[in-house]
Amino acid sequence: MTAPNLGRRDDGEIIACPDGPFLVRGPVEILLPDGTPLPRTRRTVALCRCGLSTIKPYCDGTHKASGFRTT
Ligand code: FES
Repeated sequence: MTAPNLGRRDDGEIIACPDGPFLVRGPVEILLPDGTPLPRTRRTVALCRCGLSTIKPYCDGTHKASGFRTT
């Protein structure tokens, strides 16, 4: 199954992984709720959307064990 592409720009993209995180690729600025830019050291980062990660906002893989499902 191909992950749906939620948005794409010339310089980055966000991919919603089925039953998993959002993958953010490219030079997309990610802001925390207070507006602070999230420091990035990698071109691709996985952001938790199951709410169970212990390293939020990043995905730590917990979604697999929890049985998280997207529709
Ligand atoms: S989406 Fe992976 S831990 Fe939440």
